[in-house]
Amino acid sequence: MESHGTLETLLNSDVLSGTPDAAAEAVAGAITQMAEAALSLSVLVATPPLHGRLGAHAGSANSDGDGQKKLDLIAEDLFAAALRRAGVAAYLSEEVEEASLFDAKGVIAVAIDPLDGSSNIDVNAPIGTIFSIFPMIPEGLAEPAHAFRQPGRNQLAAGFFIYGPQTSLVVTFGKGIHLLVLNDKTGTFVLVESGVTIPAEQAEYAINASNYRHWPESVQSYIDDCVKGADGPRGRNFNMRWVGSLVADSYRIFMRGGIFLYPGDKRPGYEQGRLRLMYEANPIAFLAEQSGGAATDGVDNILDRVPHSPHQRVPLVMGSTDKVERVRQYYLDLSPPTRDAPLFGRRGLLRD
Ligand code: AHG
Ligand code: MN
Ligand code: MN
Repeated sequence: MESHGTLETLLNSDVLSGTPDAAAEAVAGAITQMAEAALSLSVLVATPPLHGRLGAHAGSANSDGDGQKKLDLIAEDLFAAALRRAGVAAYLSEEVEEASLFDAKGVIAVAIDPLDGSSNIDVNAPIGTIFSIFPMIPEGLAEPAHAFRQPGRNQLAAGFFIYGPQTSLVVTFGKGIHLLVLNDKTGTFVLVESGVTIPAEQAEYAINASNYRHWPESVQSYIDDCVKGADGPRGRNFNMRWVGSLVADSYRIFMRGGIFLYPGDKRPGYEQGRLRLMYEANPIAFLAEQSGGAATDGVDNILDRVPHSPHQRVPLVMGSTDKVERVRQYYLDLSPPTRDAPLFGRRGLLRD
């Protein structure tokens, strides 16, 4: 693939031209600092400084007798320090209960999942870091958590680093998405492609099917129809993938299409699914929309949701627009009053 430069040249191009100068500078600074942290984390992930098992639990001791941290706490330290250096105003992390005010003069607020896919650390599968950048709002000065009471639509930038066979950065500033790959010989992120779009044709879905019995009937029906393949109402065969790291499942969808679902289900505590709005669903939804796809909670656009609490969960259906819309139809068809209306039943109306 043709190379168009580096992260630095991308940040100095017109990608942030619609954003006020101070915020644009702050976004560029935050992403530059996070890229440094991501480089450190990727080196840590790729070499054995943690004495083999990267997923060791916090509180355990390494062979030197030092306290050994879980990788997600190491990631938290790296990214919090990076964003503090960048002078961001408000900071919200999956790893920290309370949002913080880093710099009262800062003009942006950053929400972050420092280490996504923790359960994959010890199995050498891709893991990542997801971030979401908002303009700082005055309400956040007195109470930092309030800086994050903005709909995802307000994001200035969002993206994720993925530590896999390649360390990559997928990022948007609201004008399409960009794919950059780390050149580990130079330590720079190289721009590989701008304007990545989700291919529409891929018949592939991602869902943790072990939760089938807990799902709402709408999701069961959607997946049933995929599983029936060429013999069912969809008239085509589907493939299934579930890495279990949102970054990896999303990356695959941005590159080759498909759909990802983490619905709300009947398990206690999973009524709103598993994923967190502020640092998982919002940034992935922004990327999805910017790559020609869509993201909903099953029915409504994720980016329109006004958050009520920093760590709230939200169901997430994300991928190519036609598939996300189809899932929406399944949700709506099963809601009264249409659920018993045979003419408007879900099957047969919604072939590709
Ligand atoms: P985290 O490691 O930050 O807690 O996130 C894990 C998330 C997400 O990456 C993934 O899509 C999902 O949890 C997997 O959930 P299940 O283990 O329920 O399949
Ligand atoms: Mn996560
Ligand atoms: Mn995490």
